[in-house]
Amino acid sequence: IDTDVIEHERLARHTSYRIGGKAALFITCHSYHALRRAIETLDREQVPWVIIGRGSNLLVADEGYEGAVVTLGREFMRTVLAEDGRTLTAGAGVILARLVNEVYSKGLSGLEFAMGIPGTVGGAVSMNAGTRTEWIGSLIEDVMTYQPGRGMRHYAHDEIAWGYRECGLPRDEIVLEATLRLHPADKADIREKMERYLSRRRRTQPIGSASCGSVFKNPPDRSVGKMVEDCGLKGFSVGGAEISTVHGNFIVNTGTATASDVAAVIRHVYGKVREAYGVELQPEVKF
Ligand code: EPU
Repeated sequence: IDTDVIEHERLARHTSYRIGGKAALFITCHSYHALRRAIETLDREQVPWVIIGRGSNLLVADEGYEGAVVTLGREFMRTVLAEDGRTLTAGAGVILARLVNEVYSKGLSGLEFAMGIPGTVGGAVSMNAGTRTEWIGSLIEDVMTYQPGRGMRHYAHDEIAWGYRECGLPRDEIVLEATLRLHPADKADIREKMERYLSRRRRTQPIGSASCGSVFKNPPDRSVGKMVEDCGLKGFSVGGAEISTVHGNFIVNTGTATASDVAAVIRHVYGKVREAYGVELQPEVKF
């Protein structure tokens, strides 16, 4: 009851790109024990596995995945507010957008920048989601992970090497929950900040289109969007994958894109930017 298993599940249903072939197994674990049992079984039977959240920063191959895709359900979708009224623990499966609204409804400030960022708490922690100047890691006091084959492990804020779009946690560790430290503020002010972040995003990003957000990380002191625009690449497409006309660092699926279409556009941008600026772009999207 606390594990759901689907065979031959189309991963396009689970990625924000709406791209991706079938996974041999798609497993939703609704409790820590279910997760442990599932991972131990997969490891024992030597079935490769990956953990995903909402697939918001993921390009899945058209061939799919010959292993198990594991995702976190019910028990990981809870939030608990501590007695101090400002420390909130959120399960890795909590949708970030829900968390932003919940924090607002409690009159807590600090997470407004996450307005409009897709994905789950687990995903946001793993890639230290944020803007250029603010990221979720700065708010986090503790992270609890599961180390396959061992057990739970607790990390305090300072034990994690937070960086731009990375958190330095070992790749095979699964984030279970994170505790955020927020501060009380006037609700009207929080709401206003949230609206400001959202309207900025709506103005500058193709919100609502199927994409993975920014494809590349911004190199120090440069903007990928601007470089792509200056190369005249906005609107460039391969099959159904198109460089957004709104933001040059977004590739959108206009309806029929395959993973190879997106990969071809990524390679094209990489090559053109290297040619024009001598800069080797680093992808932010995970393959
Ligand atoms: N610009 C252009 N042309 C474009 C896009 C941008 O000239 O097509 C210029 C803008 O005018 C601006 C500058 O480039 O002067 C920077 O653009 P923007 O403020 O939109 O932010 P960004 O650096 O492109 C970063 C994050 C976004 C985040 C925004 C807003 C990265 C790779 N991207 O984008 O994060 O939402 O700031 O804070 O750091 C993501 O990581 O998936 C993501 C969407």
